[in-house]
Amino acid sequence: MLKGSFELIGDKSISHRAIMFSSISKGYNKISNFLMGQDCLSTIDCFRKMGVDIEIKDREVFVKGNGLYGLKKPDNILDVGNSGTTIRLISGILAGNNFDATLIGDESIAKRPMKRVTDPLRLMGCKIEGKDDANYTPIKIYGGNLKAIDYKMQVASAQVKSALILGSLYADGRCSIYEKVKSRNHTEIMLKSFGADIEVEDLTININPVKELFSQDINVAGDISSASFIIVGALISKGSEVVIKNVGLNETRTGIIDVVKAMNGNIEILNERVVSGELVGDLLVKYSPNLVGATIDKEIIPRLIDEIPVIAVLATQAEGTTIIKDAKELKVKESNRIKAMVDNLTLMGADIEELEDGMIINGKTKLSGANIQTFKDHRIAMSFSIAELISDGEVKLDDKECIGISFPGYFDLLNSLSK
Ligand code: S3P
Repeated sequence: MLKGSFELIGDKSISHRAIMFSSISKGYNKISNFLMGQDCLSTIDCFRKMGVDIEIKDREVFVKGNGLYGLKKPDNILDVGNSGTTIRLISGILAGNNFDATLIGDESIAKRPMKRVTDPLRLMGCKIEGKDDANYTPIKIYGGNLKAIDYKMQVASAQVKSALILGSLYADGRCSIYEKVKSRNHTEIMLKSFGADIEVEDLTININPVKELFSQDINVAGDISSASFIIVGALISKGSEVVIKNVGLNETRTGIIDVVKAMNGNIEILNERVVSGELVGDLLVKYSPNLVGATIDKEIIPRLIDEIPVIAVLATQAEGTTIIKDAKELKVKESNRIKAMVDNLTLMGADIEELEDGMIINGKTKLSGANIQTFKDHRIAMSFSIAELISDGEVKLDDKECIGISFPGYFDLLNSLSK
């Protein structure tokens, strides 16, 4: 069982944005509760290579911003490691800056589609070269002289939306971006606080260029995506009761809470407050013996996209059928997360079927130990460490190190809560 309370580590999405927006602002920025995960460190590395002075002290980061037009052409290739958020968002910034730069990443990044970002940036007049017509790394961006666009998003992706908002900061006029489905809006919230001229009306985002962004101190909310592993662990292991403090509760991210409630899970929000423009609160989660299946589809998908792997584990412990669909995006994450969950949960004895855009899980089933192939995907690895809490026999992960991408200290925390 899991028992105890803890302060949640910083949000990955917000930490990336804090470094990027601080780097292109004018003045000194202090970022507290920064996520020291490998992905966010990759973002720091890229901006240092473009001449930004970034200092790390414990869990705080100090950034001396170079201003909107102050980045320098990097001497070397920019390596984003495993980070999709870094490569997508930085592309928007590079498109606006008057130099060329080349982006690469690890073998997972090499398989992740980039045309969703490079196509609309090309529409803004940016010259971009890369493998398969700039769909894959290495990608070379020749920035500068961007034209304003009106753009209808083709995929529900906050990474694409954010890249375009960042490019729009440098355009020669007002840009409009239309989302089909609302995705996480940390970029809109944070950029406004840096002085960007952004208006949001339902699914439309209008951006007017400004001359400069101004420095901010940012306190990073806790990462609900990281919390989701502990939430599910507490819901499924007998006798558990956990308080997770400082959880980011931005409504574009809280699909997991809605689903847990729909599945009869015992979860309560306490002490809601606003920190650096983001809603945060504490979560009280208790063992829930009467979980039931649910259908998870349509608009809720972007609000819980990263939590689907661990929701699949939860569904194996719920009575009845859980259907997850409209989630084709899972195939182009750090790994093909549909396949990774279906194959590995099948090995553990779950009743699970793969769909083109999701999966169907029939519960409740007893899980047994297995050798798990993580594909070096942090969220797959953590999902199966949670499945192990209730399985007969050992769950062996072929890679544990990948968890450091988003959740440094994960196993120490899990061990400290395990009673
Ligand atoms: C992220 C957006 C999501 C998410 C990723 C982080 C972000 O990706 O899966 O982990 O920080 O904007 P998509 O926008 O591609 O769905």
